[in-house]
Amino acid sequence: MANLITALRAASHVVVFTGAGVSAESGIPTFRDKQAGLWENFDAAELATPLAFARDPSFVWGWYEWRRGLVLKAEPNPGHRAIAAMQSRVPHFNLITQNVDDLHERGGSCEVIHLHGELSKPYCEGCHLPYSHPEAIPDMPSGSGRLQPPTCGACGAKIRPGVVWFGEPLPKASWKAARDAARHCDFFICCGTSALVQPAASLADMAMDAGATILQVNPNPTDLDSSATFTIRGPSGIVLPQLVADAWSAL
Ligand code: APR
Repeated sequence: MANLITALRAASHVVVFTGAGVSAESGIPTFRDKQAGLWENFDAAELATPLAFARDPSFVWGWYEWRRGLVLKAEPNPGHRAIAAMQSRVPHFNLITQNVDDLHERGGSCEVIHLHGELSKPYCEGCHLPYSHPEAIPDMPSGSGRLQPPTCGACGAKIRPGVVWFGEPLPKASWKAARDAARHCDFFICCGTSALVQPAASLADMAMDAGATILQVNPNPTDLDSSATFTIRGPSGIVLPQLVADAWSAL
């Protein structure tokens, strides 16, 4: 632990890479844990595809609206706030997230690199025009969980969630910024992700190849266990505030 804190303090470029686990303590279910309620018999990975939306748009739109409703009512947790605090303490810092919620931003982080899109940015599947959600928090879809997606005012095609689905490319600019950050950092923190979904998961390998120290924060084992320089087994809402306190409280 002393070595870890020394390396973090000495780092000139820190990258934090987050996944759904960071928002778990805010009440947002992760992707590979069992789904809740109406969706408990469905695998999230099966809902998050262009084919699923084409086959059953109201089911997929209903699921994303349910998640968006949860996010709107959720608050950032101490893990989000610790990451924001870190940003002001290191010379060069990047936050890369796979999360489609805005809890990092609401927790105080800025210039967040979103690799998998954002729930708040739906757009037309036909002409790609952005769509603005009504301000009200969406009602939880009841009964079947279905909600008909709105249609585009310009071309009449369906509005789709503003997220990246399996089989779709990552947003070009975000992916480039993420790769550049991973290749140039000297300390890479992988937090709350199963590190299973490519190409995002390859960022840790890029940082490792560039010689960075890799810290993993996760309460459960992952494929990164064997290669990370350090692993702290625990929830990010507890581990990250402690890490910030240990590294910088004496400064
Ligand atoms: N603190 C930290 N990590 C946690 C916590 C917590 N409180 N609770 C759970 N975790 C960990 C789990 O152990 C798991 O390793 O968070 C991880 C969540 O993994 P996934 O559900 O696979 O989420 P993620 O890695 O973000 O998934 C990547 O897959 O479905 C797609 O596009 C979706 O962005 C998502 C991507």
